[in-house]
Amino acid sequence: MTEINLGTTADMHVHLRDGTMSKLITPTVKSGGISICYVMPNLVPPITTKQQVEEYHKNLEKMAPDTTFLMSFYLCKELTPELVEECADKGLIHGIKCYPAGVTTNSKYGVDPNDFSQFYPIFEKMQEKGIILNLHGEKPGIDEKDEINIINAESKFLPALRKLHQDFPRLKIILEHTTTFESIELVRELNQGKKQGDEIFIGATITAHHLYLIIDNWANNPINYCKPVAKFHKDKNALIDAATSGEPWFFFGSDSAPHPIHKKQVHVDVCAGVYTQCNAIGYVAEIFDKFNKLENLKKFVSDNGIKFYDLKEEILAKHKNESVWLIERKNKVPEILGNGEVEVVPFKAGDELKYIIEWRKN
Ligand code: DOR
Ligand code: ZN
Repeated sequence: MTEINLGTTADMHVHLRDGTMSKLITPTVKSGGISICYVMPNLVPPITTKQQVEEYHKNLEKMAPDTTFLMSFYLCKELTPELVEECADKGLIHGIKCYPAGVTTNSKYGVDPNDFSQFYPIFEKMQEKGIILNLHGEKPGIDEKDEINIINAESKFLPALRKLHQDFPRLKIILEHTTTFESIELVRELNQGKKQGDEIFIGATITAHHLYLIIDNWANNPINYCKPVAKFHKDKNALIDAATSGEPWFFFGSDSAPHPIHKKQVHVDVCAGVYTQCNAIGYVAEIFDKFNKLENLKKFVSDNGIKFYDLKEEILAKHKNESVWLIERKNKVPEILGNGEVEVVPFKAGDELKYIIEWRKN
């Protein structure tokens, strides 16, 4: 029976919401096998001030004291280099998330990726302070002539990533929840020539659900609908290859994004987001097992993300006494999660998984 010590695990892209939903979801970071998570700022209103980020962090810690929550700002014109500097110096934020306006949930306060120039003073400061730029890499279609749709929006965004890297070669940038063959190729290209131990500036997160899904799986099931949407077999296979490769620029970011069941089970305006937090490691392990790559699982779900974020000893110290173990033991994904006020359907609800996690003292 397989048992693997994954050490301190990291999920570098989670949506923990606020209010009742947050109470239900936040404790599932730990139960899903995650020690450290990077929290998205797309609340309503978005997280753009020091006070908001401090308060949000405090609330999350109260709900799940064993978990480390790394915080982010939402890129928008209200941010200033001075604010970024202050919050970076105090360790309040680790990154800033960029949402192109209109491409996904709560992105209406976001930016126009055709012209990032107004944010260059912010990027300058981020580069100086080692703050990460997290990109939702989809280009919004402005008019019909652009011929942009949910299938090609990620590929059409890639020139913007290239340009940002050219203009800020030492800014750490993550292409979040990559879904395409082209994205994987570009991330490899931009890291070409890097040797073991070199500093890395371009990374990509990969979700659990994009290792399973293609277009057919969400076209008839809104539970599997998320942004960016899952694409084609060729894309899924590229994601599996990247995730299981052990290459240091690819790491886990679940993009677990819960929505109440009544907002998923509708036939118009289905909310984008797949909830995977409660079995995060289990879903990923299943794929690594299927492709005989379990030996690289720890790199993907633990080491690579922690290294890219350059997490300091004082953050890691909190997790020194406990490790996440992957255990081969059949278990079932719950049909539904609820707390009497809100209900969420997890990814692969009711399905059997081969692996479960246990927290063990070191
Ligand atoms: O599917 C998604 N859901 N993609 C995102 O980028 C946002 C997220 C959410 O917040 O629900
Ligand atoms: Zn997200």
